[in-house]
Amino acid sequence: MKNAIMNFEIQSMDLSGAATHKADALVVLVSQSFKPVKGVLSDLIAAALKAGDLEAKAGKLLAMYDVAGITSRRVLLVSCEAGTSRQVRQAVGAAVAALKTANVRRLLVCLAAPCDDAAVRAAVCAAADASYVYTTTKSKPEPRTLTHLTLGVADAAQNRGAFAKAVATVRGVELAKEWANRPGNHATPTMLAGAAKELARSPQIQCEVLGPKQVAKLGMGAFIAVAKGSEEELRFIVLRYNGAANKTQAPTVLVGKGISFDTGGISIKPAPEMDEMKYDMSGAASVLGVFRSLAELKPAINVVGLIPSCENMPDGRAVKPGDVVTSMSGQTIEILNTDAEGRLVLCDALTYAERFNPRVVVDIATLTGACVIALGGVRSGMFASTDALATELATAGESAQDLCWRMPLDDEYAEGLKTHFADVANVGGRPGGAVTAAKYLQRFATKYPWAHLDIAGTAWKGGAAKGATGRPVPLLLEFLLAQADKAPQADKAPAKRTAPARRRKA
Ligand code: BES
Ligand code: MN
Ligand code: ZN
Repeated sequence: MKNAIMNFEIQSMDLSGAATHKADALVVLVSQSFKPVKGVLSDLIAAALKAGDLEAKAGKLLAMYDVAGITSRRVLLVSCEAGTSRQVRQAVGAAVAALKTANVRRLLVCLAAPCDDAAVRAAVCAAADASYVYTTTKSKPEPRTLTHLTLGVADAAQNRGAFAKAVATVRGVELAKEWANRPGNHATPTMLAGAAKELARSPQIQCEVLGPKQVAKLGMGAFIAVAKGSEEELRFIVLRYNGAANKTQAPTVLVGKGISFDTGGISIKPAPEMDEMKYDMSGAASVLGVFRSLAELKPAINVVGLIPSCENMPDGRAVKPGDVVTSMSGQTIEILNTDAEGRLVLCDALTYAERFNPRVVVDIATLTGACVIALGGVRSGMFASTDALATELATAGESAQDLCWRMPLDDEYAEGLKTHFADVANVGGRPGGAVTAAKYLQRFATKYPWAHLDIAGTAWKGGAAKGATGRPVPLLLEFLLAQADKAPQADKAPAKRTAPARRRKA
């Protein structure tokens, strides 16, 4: 990654400490119920509040320059009422965005009031988000100027764990952004495999990459059908992170859709905004990102990452509407629309996942435009085969401020997938399109608890700030770490511990 990495530090600090700290800019989060103490910075805040110059709305700013008694030249007071992670995120995001043009390399963000772990996390992530710049394919890159962030908190020792988690999250998010932002010719399946191999330089991570021959031998007919229209060779990436003391502990498997470019194939997409289909490997990018974070945090869990990656292109050899192929599961599929390719590459990966006897499998995919219509860019669509899993994912999303929303899986939604010519069709009608897609996937995820995250709306933002968001790396990491918190007991359990019933049945 060419982009300049951001360094983070956390320090115990009161307002007087903040005033004399050496930085290019000082940002202080201020609530209207601010209790003045001694010192120039406190006086400044009290005066600003008294004069009504700091509006009581998260993210409202008051900027000052060369204040006597304050070492940092630029001083920004930012409104932040409650110390909720949402407000901290808004406030720090607004402050860092405002400073983006200035020549600020070293920034001190002071969370004056006692703050919880969620606030620390929000501050670190928001600062990274707001200062991120993509540079890889620019001839004269202008990398991010903000490269050093110090977080001033009341008692650094209290927040150290959350801080480490936040920094690891940022590393993962930025890796995911990098790959999703890259154009299709700079993020081919082979290049994604290269990125995965690079992750395997960490001692806890292993990587295996399968090519067309091995994938054919496995019988991944659905995956192969999608790749057929492209000159670019497919790759099936297998990543393993082994952190559990008990090496045989059932892993969590993450499956990421890795369509490096989606033209739609023979069912070709319209030209406007087709360029954005370079982010159709955001699911894959999020899996790479999570592994990057795992390498940093080294939690006591086992995780497998599976990435089926190829291009979806129209060609003389491309799969045609109406073609019937046989998936690795043995089920035959009528490909009625070659643009519903994500589910085709995912279904074979879901079958492949069975060999790991997983605790749970979560697939992550920019799967449907219908999900963008349903939930927009705020929450990812979440489908889960069990209520417990749905709760785990929703909770992880809440605490990481990377939200998702549970969607239904009623069997009636699968009606449209019925066909006379195969076991299943790859599309139903347009109504409830995100659910139909999930119902299709569910047919291939019968051997383990399974969830599906449709990130078509959340992995990318359009408009002026066009680009990848790195979501849902924070959600996934939080979800995995919650397992690590539960895992130690399981690790210490005697070896005679019986395997879950589902495994014996399988
Ligand atoms: N990659 C797209 C889904 C997508 C759309 C992601 C918009 C991000 C933004 C997917 O492969 C696709 O083309 N889905 C089709 C399915 C349809 C043919 C049933 C869609 O959503 O239109
Ligand atoms: Mn498509
Ligand atoms: Zn796609």
